[in-house]
Parts: sequence; C-alpha cells; structure tokens
Amino acid sequence: MKLFVDSANLDEIAALTPLGIVDGVTTNPSLLAKVGNDPRAVLKRICDLVQGPVSAEVVATDCEGMVSEGRELAAIDPHIVVKVPFGKAGVQACHVLAAEGIRVNVTLIFSATQALLAAKVGATFVSPFIGRLDDIGTTGMDLVRQCVEIFENFQFPTEVLVASVRGPMHVIESARLGADICTCPPKAIDALFNHPLTDIGLAKFLADWAKAQQPEG
Ligand code: E4P
Repeated sequence: MKLFVDSANLDEIAALTPLGIVDGVTTNPSLLAKVGNDPRAVLKRICDLVQGPVSAEVVATDCEGMVSEGRELAAIDPHIVVKVPFGKAGVQACHVLAAEGIRVNVTLIFSATQALLAAKVGATFVSPFIGRLDDIGTTGMDLVRQCVEIFENFQFPTEVLVASVRGPMHVIESARLGADICTCPPKAIDALFNHPLTDIGLAKFLADWAKAQQPEG
C-alpha cells in the first residue's frame, strides 16, 4: 500500500521524505490556507520534494471553473493531480479533465455510489473520508471495503485513496482491505513508528552493552 502525506507544510514533508516511505502528497484548501504563502509556489516545492503524485484542489464550484482551474494546476508540474470535490460539477469536470489526460482525484467521497460515479468518469483516485464518517458515528472503513470490492468487480483502474485518516488502526485496516493508498497527516505517520516494547528493548540492549564495556572489578 502506498503512503501519502496529508499536509501542505514543506518542513513536515521534507522531514519525512528522506525516510523513503512517502509515495505522494495530498493537500486541500484548508491545508494550503494554513501554511499561507503563494499556494502554487508551495505546490511546486512539494512536487520537487516528493517526485510522486501531489493532489491540488480546485476552489471553483462550477464545472467550467473547475476545468480551467484544473488545467492551470496541472500546468504547475507533471506530478500534480487535480482534486475536484464530488458533485455533478465535479464529476463532469473529472470527465473533461481525464479525457485530456489530466489525472483527477475526486474528493469528499462519503458513499460507494459516489465512488462508483467518479470511477466511471475516469478518476485516477477517489478519496473516501474515513475519519469524518467515524466522527458522525458510522464506520468509515465499511466504505473502503465497498470501494475496493466494486473497483475489483469491474476492474476499474481508479485507486482507492483513503483520506481523513486519524491513526494507525485506519492504516492497518486500509492495508488489510487492499486499499491502494492511505494519506496520513504527519502526526499519524509518526504514530506508525511507535511501540513501547521497541523503546524498552533498545534501552535494554544498550544498557547491557554499556555494562559489558566497563572494566571488571
Ligand atoms: C485528503 O485528501 C483530505 O483532504 C484530508 O485527509 C481530510 O482530512 P480531515 O478530515 O482530517 O480534514
């Protein structure tokens, strides 16, 4: 399963890329607004850092606006994937952009029917928002299972990009269900590394080693 960073913060992304575990980045208008600066320059820097798919979301709300904004975003760098929000305008924009060879991530997916419609119009990725579904008392992971099953049934090339990830259990379940990608905020990626027994085990190895180095007597 591929791992994307869900952030527009260059420092956070730059800290993770040398580890060799980052396959791409997802941004959204909220994340870009948080970092300030010129969003297009930030997106270009992210592409240079990651050399993998970088989702950049349109803010237009009509199809024509989404298409022209999508073309502009795609021109920033070949790694840019245009993110469009699900809806009739988003689906139509995805249809147009995909036909031009521009990769599209259809975002704000909260049902399997939405994922199916996005796949039908050639989305490269669909982004089911798992954490936000959990937040309202439903089981977000059920949606991932449905998307994976439906795309397999019809051999859709669209990849399931699990979004709104809150912690390691979302990542484990996504991997078990065969999701293609998980996009995680840096904090959630850090949590994937942690286990108290690893820390305790290492401290003991080092203590034993240090003890053996001390002169006898
Ligand atoms: C990613 O593409 C989404 O924009 C992001 O995962 C949303 O996460 P949130 O629900 O934590 O805002």
